[in-house]
Amino acid sequence: MNAKLGRIFSGIQPSAGVPHLGNYIGAIKPWVHYQDTAPLKPILSVVDLHALTNPKLKPEILRDNIFQMTASLLACGLDPNKCIIFQQSTVPHHTELSWILTCCSTLQRIQAINTWREKVKLLGKEKGAPLGVLVYPLLMAADILLYKTDTIPVGDDQSQNIELTRELATTFNRRFNCNVMKVPEKLVQTESNRIKSLRDPTSKMSKSDDTQGSSVTILDCQDLIRAKIKKAVTDSNPVLSFDPEKRPGVSNLIGIYAAMKNISKSDALTEVESMDTLQLKNAVSDVVVEALSPIRSEHSRLMESKEYLTQVLNNGKNSATEIADQTLIEVKKAIGVL
Ligand code: TYM
Repeated sequence: MNAKLGRIFSGIQPSAGVPHLGNYIGAIKPWVHYQDTAPLKPILSVVDLHALTNPKLKPEILRDNIFQMTASLLACGLDPNKCIIFQQSTVPHHTELSWILTCCSTLQRIQAINTWREKVKLLGKEKGAPLGVLVYPLLMAADILLYKTDTIPVGDDQSQNIELTRELATTFNRRFNCNVMKVPEKLVQTESNRIKSLRDPTSKMSKSDDTQGSSVTILDCQDLIRAKIKKAVTDSNPVLSFDPEKRPGVSNLIGIYAAMKNISKSDALTEVESMDTLQLKNAVSDVVVEALSPIRSEHSRLMESKEYLTQVLNNGKNSATEIADQTLIEVKKAIGVL
């Protein structure tokens, strides 16, 4: 047990029902590790309210995605006896605390977080994007602070939101002269864990990128995985080397190979050095197929039993509510509404 980890909280959006390889390597694999090493059960949320920031997401799709995502997390090795898995909207404390935090922040501060501009562009709604896209970081801060979180394992794409969370915790405690908010230690996976798009290795692999073949999902069949990786953009240099700046495509593949084999990038490079690009792609496909095949069959087994998935989420809701209740009472007393 690593006592320093304390309470762990993290989340994943069910905007797509199934995680991609970036989510798997950058978030889910570390979560599986933490459920065995953290002193307290890690709390992991299927953050459905965050997914509402995508106005194109249809209710029937979201409903199915929540099950798909829960089954995916379990299939990847998360064990409901070792961690708390719950659906964000079933614990209304998140939206309540989010509003209180909204009143502790400023418009200028939230506008300084630049991710919302990218999202507005991505949604193609420069004029009519939902306000939720802007205030998203405040809901994320509420998620984290409700559980007096110490450690947040996330990809580095989330670091501005975590910085805001830390600031808000400090501001809240100062303004209300209390110690209710725990300032979380920032634990962000390093840049090297960021998996890039297979079609454009200068940008990250993303659920919202619908370019064909840009991402591998954890449920892709072996033929699809091989086809996507075969088409991955690399470069014309036949000698392999690891250089994310100058050779993003090849380096991304080496990074995936290393992560899937649980070895360092330099050990991965030693293993693949003598290969040409096609051989590298075959080697990466082999390790990805090997790791994802059992996940795929476990996922389809779990999807047969919606009752079981509902029970997991219900138990998670109960455990999460117990903790969230305590914090919200303290918050309400501090701000003077209780
Ligand atoms: P989301 O759903 O976009 O992603 C879930 C997790 O996957 C990581 N990730 C990646 N890691 C490596 N390479 C990639 N290409 C890649 N793409 C995504 C993300 O960093 C994340 O860890 N805002 C969050 C969800 C959230 C949350 C929270 C996280 C809501 N509340 C509280 C932590 C704590 C998000 O959109 O993640």
